[in-house]
Amino acid sequence: MNAATGSLFSLPASVTLTEVSPRDGFQNIEQWIPTETKINIVEGIFRSGVKNIEVTSFVSPKAIPQMKDAAIVAEYAVAMAKNTDVNIMALIPNVKGAERALSCGIRKVNYIISASPLHNKKNMNRTPQESFEALCELKKNFPEADVTLGVATAFGCPFQGKVPVDDVITLMRAARDIGINSFTLCDTIGVANPRQVETLLHEVKKNFSDIQLALHLHNTHGMALANIYAAMLQGVDRFESAIGGLGGCPFAPGAAGNAATEDLVNMLNRMEINSNIDLAKLLDVANQIRELVPCSISGMLVKARRYDEFSF
Ligand code: COA
Ligand code: ZN
Repeated sequence: MNAATGSLFSLPASVTLTEVSPRDGFQNIEQWIPTETKINIVEGIFRSGVKNIEVTSFVSPKAIPQMKDAAIVAEYAVAMAKNTDVNIMALIPNVKGAERALSCGIRKVNYIISASPLHNKKNMNRTPQESFEALCELKKNFPEADVTLGVATAFGCPFQGKVPVDDVITLMRAARDIGINSFTLCDTIGVANPRQVETLLHEVKKNFSDIQLALHLHNTHGMALANIYAAMLQGVDRFESAIGGLGGCPFAPGAAGNAATEDLVNMLNRMEINSNIDLAKLLDVANQIRELVPCSISGMLVKARRYDEFSF
C-alpha cells in the first residue's frame, strides 16, 4: 500500500465539531455586542446542526467585560437545547466559574490551564499549579460537572516560545489522576505546524489510551486546516472551530482567529467526511456575524465563489 492511499484509509468517517465563536470569537471584541445579538447567533448555530456549542465563558467581567452577560446567554441556550442532543458548554477559569455555569444549567465545562507558566499567569493570574489545585477543588466539590481540560499554549506560548511536549503530558497526567478524561489541546496563538501536531499526538497516544481528545487550532500562520488534516491522520475526530474564523485570547498578543468552521466543514464535505452540519446554514450565520458584529471575518468561503453548480 503506498503512503497516499494508506493515509486516506486512516481518516475518520465522521468528525464532531464544537462551535466556539460565541465564546472565543466574541471575548476578543472590545465593542459591546448586545446580548440579543449573541443569542440570535447561538440560535443560528443551533439550527445549522452543530451538536456542541461553547456559548460563553464564566470569567471575571473585569478580565473580559464582553462576557458579563454569560448567565443570560447560557440560560437561554440551555432552554433552547432542552430535550435535544445538543450540548451547551461554557469555558471556566476557576471554581467560581463552575458554580456560575452549573447554576445556569450547564454541566459541560471547559476548564483552562496553560502548559506555559507565563501565559497562565497573564491569562488567569495564577501559576499552573494554583490553577490545578483549584481544578482539584472543583472536581471534589462539584462532581456533577462534566469537566474537559483545555490545555492552552500546548503548541507554543507568546511569552516563552516553545512549549516542551513533556509539559503538556505532565499536565494531562496530573488531570488524568484526578479523574479528568476529556482534553482539548489548544494552539492558542496559531503557531503549530502539521509535523508538530503529529509529534505531540504521537506522545499523547503513547501516554494515554482511554481519553477523549479534541484540538483547538488558531490560524495565525495559515496552517489550521493543514494541522486538522494531520490530526485526523492520527485518529483525532473532534475539533473546535469558530464561524468566520473569529477568535483570539486577549491575553495572547498577536494571535489570529480560529480555523473557520465553514471552511472546515467545506473541506470535510469535499473529503466525504461527515460532520452533520448544514454548510448553507453555517454561511447564513457567518453573514449574520458579518452584519451584526464589529469584527473582521477571516474565513475564506464566506467571501469566495463556491462553484456549487459544478461537482468537483
Ligand atoms: N466569574 C465572575 N467573577 C469572578 C470569577 C468568575 N469566574 N472569578 C473571580 N471573580 C471575581 C471575584 O469575585 C472578585 O470580585 P470582587 O473584586 O468584586 O470581589 C474578583 O473577580 C477578583 O477575584 P480573584 O479570584 O482575585 O481573581 P483575579 O483578579 O486573580 O482573576 C481570574 C483571576 C481567573 C478570575 C481572571 O483572570 C479571569 O477571569 N481570567 C479569564 C481570562 C480569559 O477569559 N481568557 C480567555 C479564555 S482562555
Ligand atoms: Zn482559542
